[in-house]
Amino acid sequence: DPMYICIPVYLGLHNQGSYLVFYENSFDARFSFSEVATAAFEGGALRYYVAIGTPAHLLERYTELTGRAPMPPRWALGYHQSHWGYRTEEAVRKTYQGFEAHNLPLSVIHLDIDVQVGFRAFTVDPDRFPNLNGFIRELLEHGVQFVTILNPGVKASRASNLFLEGCVLDAFCKLPDGRFVVGPVWPGWCVFPDFTNPAVRRWWSRQYEFLLDVGVAGFWHDMNEPAAFITSGDRSLPPRATQHHMEGRGGTHLEAHNVYGMLQSQAAYDSLGHYRPQQRPFIVSRAGWAGLQRYAWTWTGDIECTWTALRQTISTVLGLGLSGIPYSGPDIGGFQGNPTAELYLRWFQMCSFITFCRTHSANNVEDRNPWTYGEPTLSIIRQFLQLRYKLMPYFYTLSWEASQKGYAPVRPAFWAEPTNTALWNLDDVFLLGDRLLIAPILQEGQRSRHVTLPSGRWYHFWDDAVVENQADLDAPLERIPVLVKAGTILPMEEGSYNLLPPTEGSRRLILHLYPPVEESCTFTLYSDRGDGYEAYRLDHFQVRHIADGLDFVWDSEGEFAFPYSQIQVQVHGRQVQQAWVDGAEIPVQENRIDVSDRFTLLHLR
Ligand code: GLC
Repeated sequence: DPMYICIPVYLGLHNQGSYLVFYENSFDARFSFSEVATAAFEGGALRYYVAIGTPAHLLERYTELTGRAPMPPRWALGYHQSHWGYRTEEAVRKTYQGFEAHNLPLSVIHLDIDVQVGFRAFTVDPDRFPNLNGFIRELLEHGVQFVTILNPGVKASRASNLFLEGCVLDAFCKLPDGRFVVGPVWPGWCVFPDFTNPAVRRWWSRQYEFLLDVGVAGFWHDMNEPAAFITSGDRSLPPRATQHHMEGRGGTHLEAHNVYGMLQSQAAYDSLGHYRPQQRPFIVSRAGWAGLQRYAWTWTGDIECTWTALRQTISTVLGLGLSGIPYSGPDIGGFQGNPTAELYLRWFQMCSFITFCRTHSANNVEDRNPWTYGEPTLSIIRQFLQLRYKLMPYFYTLSWEASQKGYAPVRPAFWAEPTNTALWNLDDVFLLGDRLLIAPILQEGQRSRHVTLPSGRWYHFWDDAVVENQADLDAPLERIPVLVKAGTILPMEEGSYNLLPPTEGSRRLILHLYPPVEESCTFTLYSDRGDGYEAYRLDHFQVRHIADGLDFVWDSEGEFAFPYSQIQVQVHGRQVQQAWVDGAEIPVQENRIDVSDRFTLLHLR
């Protein structure tokens, strides 16, 4: 496969300040970073933007130019299960039933090309999926959404209506002599819609309507670099010979290649907004360019089942985040091959803290479900999955932050302290937001690891032990080091693991307070219905040191009703003897304070 995503942006860390350079040029390019950084493009205009400031400021500026990821539906932050090889409705049913039987939360199932007739886009095989509409309703009753794959290649066959329509519309990429550019993909010889033509995007947009009517919740765009199966020469369309519309000004694939997949995702995004205006689009795209985040999430493609690939995931996801794409993740366990139980488990533990959390695997490998490896793997995975769902208010708030400021939820350690050179090269840890640091295990047999931290006090998430600067931390199979910064109000929820909207108020919000070393700390919690574009609310929490203890102040804004019926504050790293809610004393049990309702001021002594 060709390189999936190329974005001509780089962020430099420097003793005298960080900077970002973005080249608005989609041509094939060469970058080098030695004494002097150089960028050479095959064509187009030299137009670039430079910003200076902290990484956070740079991302805010860069995404002001290229756009920010809109709020995803809340279910998309749950767990996704996928496999190339779910050939029948029964196979998919067995999968979600397996999650239920093993008491594992599940939000989404992805269907690969197996669902299609001859691997053709926008088709569903009625023999193997006889009542997709009814089956999707069944999945929804179990809280599971259905996402299906789409490739851009259209089979060059007069038996395909899509092909005939595209011919009439002059929708497919051509050579200078007027012949179609053809390439072999899953359905056989294919032609490729020219997504740089707005009329072609509109036509493509209309194709989604049928699958949306059937109940498909989202789309997974694959092979959209575009990729073609050839053993020599161009692994995509011929760069100089393939002609493109380029929004009317004309051009070749040399310029169109990098934006091709993104424009397909734009067509899908517009389609979902048009046919299903009350729901937020969910699209995953393998290819993309600067600005893909406006339309789609991505994943790291066909990686190997190796410890090296597991480690590489961190750099890739961090790099995508620093390039404006906040939602990405790997095929948990790797795509090609069979991971050992230990590799799958360590991969899973890491991905519990990564935005796009999906197991996927190739068609020629063994089944890969959380229960495939027996115990203790299953129980440990269950704990991590449940933890992810408990952290959902935190994940969701980070999504809101991404939509407002362009920050990826998964960030490099240097984000917390850009001038600390000890953090610059760390590629084996990451931050989730500013408050959690995750140190995955990336080697077989490893049961402890060294962690370098941004300055300040950090608490071990599992036992509240204090860690500063660096330490060797235990990592038995049951856990990986997770650290919480002092001065954190970490929201977690308990209730069902079903991500349907929490409007019934059936859930409990637990505010974990890791007091600041001095002065104060704040956190703003974002909530809404979980989908759509209606009311939202912001709960602003502030904790400050006062003479005889801590004051926890709460105020709110927004129209959406508070979605929790119970609230608990849990204090870490310090003993609480007494507590008063808005002046009235209430019991404290083992540092936990249950408050029946929202309060204005909680005083802790
Ligand atoms: C590509 C995708 C992979 C998918 C396969 C079959 O290799 O990257 O995720 O399973 O095609 O559709």
